[in-house]
Formats: sequence, structure tokens, C-alpha cells
Amino acid sequence: MGKIRVGILGAGGIAAVHASILQRDERVEIVAVADMVEAAAKKLATTIGEHVVCGDSVVSLIDAGVDTVYVTTPNRTHLQPVLTCLKNSINVFCEKPMATSVAEGEQILKAACDSKAVYNLGMSRRFAHAHQYIKKLIDSGRLEPFSAHVRLNRGELLNPAWTADPDQTGGFLYETTIHQLDLLEYLFGPIKTLRCEACQAISDSELDNFAILFTFESGMVCTMMSSAHSGWSFPFERVEIFGRYATLETQEIESVRFSPGLNQKIESEEYRLLPHDEKGGYVRENQLFIDALVNDSEPPVPVEQAQRLNLLIACVYESAREQKEIDFSTRTREMIG
Ligand SMILES: NC(=O)c1ccc[n+]([C@@H]2O[C@H](COP(=O)([O-])OP(=O)(O)OC[C@H]3O[C@@H](n4cnc5c(N)ncnc54)[C@H](O)[C@@H]3O)[C@@H](O)[C@H]2O)c1
Repeated sequence: MGKIRVGILGAGGIAAVHASILQRDERVEIVAVADMVEAAAKKLATTIGEHVVCGDSVVSLIDAGVDTVYVTTPNRTHLQPVLTCLKNSINVFCEKPMATSVAEGEQILKAACDSKAVYNLGMSRRFAHAHQYIKKLIDSGRLEPFSAHVRLNRGELLNPAWTADPDQTGGFLYETTIHQLDLLEYLFGPIKTLRCEACQAISDSELDNFAILFTFESGMVCTMMSSAHSGWSFPFERVEIFGRYATLETQEIESVRFSPGLNQKIESEEYRLLPHDEKGGYVRENQLFIDALVNDSEPPVPVEQAQRLNLLIACVYESAREQKEIDFSTRTREMIG
């Protein structure tokens, strides 16, 4: 098998992170980069090599002969290039969010099911060392969660300015909180119900302050707080889990403390000094995605999981706006099957 021929659509901040990781993977060749801003495409291409073709659209990447596209454009521009790729049997790694409505997600789900190509959603936080450590503890049975409290705040919606524009982000939950919402089913299994209280604390244009209660099929309960204007004061990101005489807490994605039982030694993990792309899970998610292409196996975040997460976000907004509890089990059965 030859190398995976990658094209990158959208040559901004996160594209540079993926490009740098893919360059270190000998199974991959980055063939082309496209951006609606010519200078941005050229700047990223220069860091990769002289052979890289520059273009301005997903079509220019396909014309350059890629078999896999990374969609790393802003949130509301993911849908069309993803559909074009899947229709042309081109594998897709799409950055979060999958889409910003359930209907758009349904189009992607159908296109992926009809396509020979692989679809994967980039949910890097799942693969952060801190969260992988929790996943192993739960899967091995060392930590049996009965309840949890999860938080993901953002300091402000001022910088860059587009983060305050829900027409561009789809809303704060699609932009930021999506990472922690994704962790819920990944770590704790299927969600049964949810109820959200939210308000526009300081934003003129969108809900920016959320308190959410989740119940799970397992019987577990979890609360989540997410605020868009906490001023970058640490800690802004945390997972707390309570089990059988056991407690676990993360501090950002820098460290984890696990107290496994009464009269037992506390175990702690420190990831502080790891490089940003390693600590944040970007290296691992790329490795797993390329593994899936090479081995013809399931990608790390397949399209069905992407659409469940997409539906979960829509349900949290619906619960907040209509002041009601949502039966997520029934909703997923009706809408995803
Ligand atoms: N997984 C993560 O941790 C993570 C981190 C950052 C960003 N992201 C996601 O990645 C995406 C990109 O974010 P970013 O911070 O790199 O943004 P960015 O603004 O730095 O880069 C986006 C690039 O896309 C280009 N672009 C915009 N619309 C385009 C279009 N229609 N066609 C071609 N090019 C277009 C822009 O010119 C820009 O160069 C977003 O969806 C964001 O949510 C994910």
C-alpha cells in the first residue's frame, strides 16, 4: 500500500497542529493545502515542503489527487466539503463540530453510510492523556462511577471576535463545551435524560451560562457547569468522579489525582511537561485515524458517535429554551436508531 495522500482544507491554527503531526507519520504524505485566503495556504504549504500544491477549495484538493481530506475550516463551513469528499470516496477527518444542526448531521450520517470512504470527527480532548487515564480506570473496573461533576469554562468571547458570533460558531456549546459533552458518553456510557438551565449572563446574542443535569442508563448521575465568561482564571476545566470509597479529579488536562479506596495511597499522574499536541490528544487521534485507514478498521470517532454528540448538543439547547427535561434515550432511538 502506498502512502495516504492527505489534503488540508483551511490553513489556520489547528491545521498547523495536524500538519506537524502528519509530517512525522511515515505512512502519510501531505500533498495539497487549500484556503480561501491564498497567503494562508502558501504559508502552511511552505512549512511542509516545496512539492505541496496550493489551492482554494475542496475541489482543488481532489484535483491534486488526495485520497484523504482534513476539514479544518470554521464551524459553520464543515458541511459542504465533507459531503463533497464522501460523494467522491475521499476519506474525511473533520474538526469539531460535525455540524451545527441535527438536520446537517443527518445529511453527513447518510452520506457516510452511502460512501466507501471513512468519516472521522476530530474530538481531540477524548484522547488527552488525563482522559485516557480515566477511561482505563473505568474500563478495568478499578473506578466504578456513581456520580460526577464536569466543568468546561471559557475566559471570554472577545478574542478572536468571531467566537461571540453564534452565526459563525453555531453557539457556545458547539464551540467550547462540545469537548466535555463528548466525554460524557465516552466515559460513562449512554445518557438517559438531561435537563438544562441556561441564561444570557453577559452576551447580547446567545446563551452563555449553562447548568446541566444528566442521568445515565447505568443509573449514574452527572452535573455539568459551563460558562463563556469566567476570565481565564484556573481551574476552568475539570472532571470529578465519585465511586465506591473512591474519588478522582483532574486539573485542566495537566494532572489527575485518584484516590482508589479507604486507607489507600493516592495515585497521581502529571502531564504538565508533555508537548501541547501530545498532552491534548492530537497526536493520538491522528495516529488512530491513520491506523483506521491503513488497517481498514473503525476510526476513533465514527460518524454514528459524531451524530449522537451533535444530537446531544441540540437537546441541551432545546431543554434550556423550552424549560423541560429531554428523554435522550428515546430521542436517539427515534433519530439515529
Ligand atoms: N479539536 C480542537 O481542540 C480544536 C482546536 C482549535 C480549533 N478547532 C476547530 O477547527 C476549526 C478551525 O479552527 P481554527 O482555530 O484553526 O481557525 P482559524 O481561523 O485559525 O483557521 C481557519 C482557516 O480556514 C480558512 N477558511 C475559512 N473559511 C474557508 C472556506 N470556506 N474554504 C477554505 N478555507 C476557509 C480561513 O481563511 C483560515 O485560514 C474550527 O471548526 C474549530 O472549532 C478544534
